[in-house]
Amino acid sequence: MYWWLALVFIVLNFSVRAEDGRTPIPQHWSFKTPLGTFDKKELQRGFQVYKEVCAACHGINQLRFRELEKIGFTKDQVKALAASYTVKEEEDADEEERPGRPGDRVPSPFSSEKKAREANWGAYPVDLSLITKGRGQGPDYLYALLTGYEPCPKDVTLFEGRSYNPYFQGGQISMPPPLIDNIITYHDGTLATIPQMARDVTAFLSWVAEPELENRHEMGVKVLLFLLVLTGLFYGVYQALWKLVR
Ligand code: HEC
Repeated sequence: MYWWLALVFIVLNFSVRAEDGRTPIPQHWSFKTPLGTFDKKELQRGFQVYKEVCAACHGINQLRFRELEKIGFTKDQVKALAASYTVKEEEDADEEERPGRPGDRVPSPFSSEKKAREANWGAYPVDLSLITKGRGQGPDYLYALLTGYEPCPKDVTLFEGRSYNPYFQGGQISMPPPLIDNIITYHDGTLATIPQMARDVTAFLSWVAEPELENRHEMGVKVLLFLLVLTGLFYGVYQALWKLVR
């Protein structure tokens, strides 16, 4: 009786979906498998991409400098890195700026959303701390977005300040293609191709979004082992009890 409602729903759903971006191609990520771990070299390269490219517009406000020790930076490197930034205590707007310390959050490039929008055609370069969690398909989406810029099709008119990217909802994004081959020189000598940088920065931002992922995977294994042992034990007790009863 309500079949027509279902039909309306399906049609509506389709018309809405047409506005969605192109579906990202699933990639293999070392950290996505159930026992997955992060590759520290990859994360370090990813941080370099973030720092030298994305940080011009995007913050990663959830990250404190000190946490970078977990991906293989030394205490001294972290100290020097933090000191190369100027920070301001959030609570006290009048406070003078001072060099960063390892316990500080990585400062964002713009002091307010208004300033960020003014510099970016009115669009807001979001904080990237949780970006791989905030969007469907997380890392796959980010990778697809960064590698997915295309020449604008003839039947599409780009608005001012936009670039054509079919993976972005609506296809027009106010972020100019951030990655260009060799835009950075990797400290570890890896060739800085667009796909390489996209992979590295995606892995890094996935770690920023979920630094406890490895612990969680490890915990999962421990819980499974525990359950296995427990099952064995119960089975033994069960057998022994039945022998007694018989
Ligand atoms: C020149 C400034 C600039 C740089 C550099 C830049 N972005 Fe952006 N980015 C933007 C702006 C502006 C937007 C908002 C786009 C919009 O809403 O149309 C954005 C949006 C995004 C989004 C959100 C897309 C969505 O689905 O909403 C992601 C993810 C992103 N950028 C990642 C990156 C990464 C990773 C880098 C570094 C490799 C980077 N950006 C470098 C300006 C920049």
